Amino acid sequence: MKKILLTRNIPINKDNYPDFDIVVLELGRAPTKDELKDHAHDCWGLVTTLEDKIDEDLLKSFPQLNIITQFAVGTNNIDLKYCREHNIAVCNTPDVLTEATAELTFALMIHLARKLSPAMDNAKTGQWKGWEPMGFLGKALKGKNLGIIGAGRIGERVAEMAHRGFGMNILYHNRKPNKKIELQLQARMLDKRELLSDSDVLVLMTPLTPETRGMIGSAELKLMKNDAILINTSRGEILDQAALVEELKNGKFFGVGLDVTTPEPLPSHHELYQFDRVVITPHIGSATEEARRAMAQLCFDNLKNKASNIALLTPV
Ligand code: DGY
Repeated sequence: MKKILLTRNIPINKDNYPDFDIVVLELGRAPTKDELKDHAHDCWGLVTTLEDKIDEDLLKSFPQLNIITQFAVGTNNIDLKYCREHNIAVCNTPDVLTEATAELTFALMIHLARKLSPAMDNAKTGQWKGWEPMGFLGKALKGKNLGIIGAGRIGERVAEMAHRGFGMNILYHNRKPNKKIELQLQARMLDKRELLSDSDVLVLMTPLTPETRGMIGSAELKLMKNDAILINTSRGEILDQAALVEELKNGKFFGVGLDVTTPEPLPSHHELYQFDRVVITPHIGSATEEARRAMAQLCFDNLKNKASNIALLTPV
């Protein structure tokens, strides 16, 4: 039987896969490298999450590995070059988490635009004394410019929600033009400088690659409007966090929403938690029951296809 190692428990019914010997590391956290190595020698398939560092050193201890299925769309934690060179297939879970991640992006956007954190605190802590004509004034989204860095699948869905649902104008910056959103949503592709200075809300949705690492640093943040809303639901490393803290201290930004940080978890004493216009969530973009079930299913569909020599559904 082919051994499949799951580095975390995911929502899948093991009984549906009698042909696999499924081992789940139920540690309640990501396993260490040594814990992974302990199970490596006879492992045929590996189901990983973004917290597992799948590097050359680790992969060398998996002599029988045929396939890695990443329980995420991002694969920046996996040494893809090594896998290519050693004939280890790599799959991820695109599409099935698009809706969930786009919705979370919007949840952060509305939360910040309508000052929900201070408003909720006000009610909960007994400071709510009466209706405030001038209190908690937020920003309307209608008619505002939404800038998207990385208009891939999730960026497209955010653009659609923003334009069709909220009447926002869509601006984007991508390597290649995205004709779909240009035609359907009148989106305009801009260079990075223009996008940064024209956006009222900027969302970072690009995968982490050597080119995108640190792509939003001090110079880029300074180009943004003082009262812009900035949201990152992609990878923390795309944004220079120290530069962000500096700009926040200078009074910049109406709100900042981070579902991803560097490091993760972000320690509870981190300076970013001091600002009440910053909302931080613990990397929950894809965390809906529906998305996580579909992600698990896709991981196992890929494993089954590989075992039967059928084309993989979502190869990286
Ligand atoms: C991904 O899929 O890459 C998300 O960040 C985790 O769900």
